[in-house]
Amino acid sequence: MRNHISIKSPGEVDGMRAACRLAARTLRMAGELVKPGITTEEINEAVHTYTIEAGAIPAPLNYGADPGRGVPPFPKSVCTSINEVVCHGIPSKKDVLKEGDIVNIDVTTILDGFHGDTSRTFLVGQVAPETKQLVETTWECLHRGIRTIRPGGRIRDIGSAIQDYAEQFGYGVVREYVGHGIGRFFHEEPQIPHFRSSGKNPRIQAGMTFTVEPMINLGTHETILDPIDRWTVRTADKKLSAQFEHTILVTDDAYEILTDWKYLD
Ligand code: MF3
Ligand code: CO
Ligand code: CO
Repeated sequence: MRNHISIKSPGEVDGMRAACRLAARTLRMAGELVKPGITTEEINEAVHTYTIEAGAIPAPLNYGADPGRGVPPFPKSVCTSINEVVCHGIPSKKDVLKEGDIVNIDVTTILDGFHGDTSRTFLVGQVAPETKQLVETTWECLHRGIRTIRPGGRIRDIGSAIQDYAEQFGYGVVREYVGHGIGRFFHEEPQIPHFRSSGKNPRIQAGMTFTVEPMINLGTHETILDPIDRWTVRTADKKLSAQFEHTILVTDDAYEILTDWKYLD
């Protein structure tokens, strides 16, 4: 994490717009592949090739090594998180999607030095009604969080709106993984909690770019990190988890969703 909040210049905002548009286009492409029988490795290969052919770099590949803590670099070009996997799932030939599953695909693209970060949870064929409700509610949580954003506002208002809504359904809101500032770096200040937090509460300013990416669980909010691969995060009770993510620009009067699909042809 970069340790100060960067305010993007108009030129940097243009760079962010382009990176975010490419990330959104890549995610839309990946989502079209989701169907019973495809492996998450095939999704990884498609994202990797699409990104390189666009003259960009897949940010997850080789990201995040922490030798001191025994964390290896992330080995693939996209995160694919199936069912009880909360986030940071590693694509694999062994993971074949099946009818009734949900899968979050999290794309982060580096274009001309700027990062765009966006994810969606896709339904694999027909899913159970309680699964569909979790996924739809998580999408609504993302947008309720986003709608609190305005210059002069406060970061903590985002998570309060998300948790207030999620709890009406009895869902758990993940705390260990948060949204983040983004720009020339993948993860910058500030952190964006998706729950009611009593931590830092920076003022929101025009020119900030950050993600909102709530992870909402059918059961407990608690998570477990895979002790072997040191990346895959699962719900502690192995119940389902859904997530959606957008990269946001704070504008002079409100916000712009830089990874919105409405900007795609
Ligand atoms: N894209 C994730 C996020 O939203 C981070 C993935 S880190 C990786 O912040 F190394 F797993 F790719
Ligand atoms: Co992110
Ligand atoms: Co992401």
